[in-house]
Amino acid sequence: MAGCPDLAFRTVARRFGMEMAYPEMISAESLIRANPKTLDFMKTHAGDRPLGCQLFGARPESVAEAARMAEAMGFDAVDINMGCPVPKVTGPGAGSALMKDPRRAARMIRQTARVLRKIPLTVKMRTGFADATGKEALELARIASGAGAAAVAVHARTKTQGYSGKADWNVIRLVKKKVRIPVFGNGDVFLPADARRMMRETGCDAVMIGRGSLGNPWIYARALAAMRRRRIPPPPELKERKKIFLEHFALLTDSEGEKRALLKIRTVAAWYFRGFPRAAELRQRMNRVRSARAVTRWVEEFNPT
Ligand SMILES: Cc1cc2nc3c(=O)[nH]c(=O)nc-3n(C[C@H](O)[C@H](O)[C@H](O)COP(=O)(O)O)c2cc1C
Repeated sequence: MAGCPDLAFRTVARRFGMEMAYPEMISAESLIRANPKTLDFMKTHAGDRPLGCQLFGARPESVAEAARMAEAMGFDAVDINMGCPVPKVTGPGAGSALMKDPRRAARMIRQTARVLRKIPLTVKMRTGFADATGKEALELARIASGAGAAAVAVHARTKTQGYSGKADWNVIRLVKKKVRIPVFGNGDVFLPADARRMMRETGCDAVMIGRGSLGNPWIYARALAAMRRRRIPPPPELKERKKIFLEHFALLTDSEGEKRALLKIRTVAAWYFRGFPRAAELRQRMNRVRSARAVTRWVEEFNPT
C-alpha cells in the first residue's frame, strides 16, 4: 500500500509471520528511468524475503521491461497492478483502467510473463471497474491465467467503490472456482477470524491483509493461528505495544535516517495507538517531536488511564 509498507514496516511484520510482501507500487516508467525516489521505495535487505515488486503502467512493453529489471534486482515475484483507482494512475490507462481494456491487459501480462526467467508473475485486480457482478474479474483472471500469470489477487471491491462499502467475497469465490491458478483473497480482513472465514467461504489460496496490518503487525501471527485452527495469541498489552512501536521507529531511523523517520513516525504512532484514550494527545506530541529521544520519552510516558 502506497506510503505504508516500507522496509521498517515489513521487518516488524515479518517477525509476526507475514509470509510475503510487496513494497508500495512502482511506476514502470519511473523504474526504467531509474528515478531515485522509485529506487528508494525498492530498498530492501537479505532478511526481507520473499519480496514482490508491484508495477503499474499503461504500456505493455514498459511494464515488461521494468519487470525484467525487478528480476535482475533480486525480487522474488512481480505483480502488475490492475486495481488502483487513483485518477493519476487510471488516467493514462494503468491500474484499474486495465479492467476496462482486457486486450491491452492480456498483452501486458503475456509480454511480462515472457521476460521473467525464474520468478512468477501475479496480477492484482478488483471485482470490476463499475460492474459489481464479478464478470470483469473473472474475465481478467482467465486472461491472466492464459497469458502466463502464476496467480491472481482479487480485492473484492469495484474501482468505483474505492475503499467504501463492504468487500464482496463472493467474487473471490467465483474466481477461485473458475480459474486454475492460485487466487489470493483481499478486502476487509481486520480480525484473525476474518482471515479464516475468507479462506473457508471463498476457498482462496492465500489471504492478503492491507489496512488491517497498520499499527497491528501481530495480525499476521493471529490470522495464521486462526487459519491453522491453533490458539490465537492475544494482541499485545500496551507495554509490549510500546516496545514494538519503538523497535519500528529504530528500524525506520536505520533505513531512512532520523529526519525522515521523525516525519513518518507521526503516521505510524497514530496507527499503533489508535483507539486508546488520550491517543489524540500523543499524536499531537508526535507531530511536534524534533528528536529520537523525544519520541522515546513521549511514548514511554504515554499513559492512557
Ligand atoms: C493508502 C492505501 C494505499 C494502497 N496502495 C496500494 C498499492 O500500491 N497497490 C495495491 O495493490 N493496492 C493498494 N491499496 C489497496 C490495498 O492493497 C488493498 O487491496 C485494499 O486496501 C483492500 O484490502 P484491506 O481491506 O485489507 O485493506 C492501497 C490501499 C490504501 C488504503
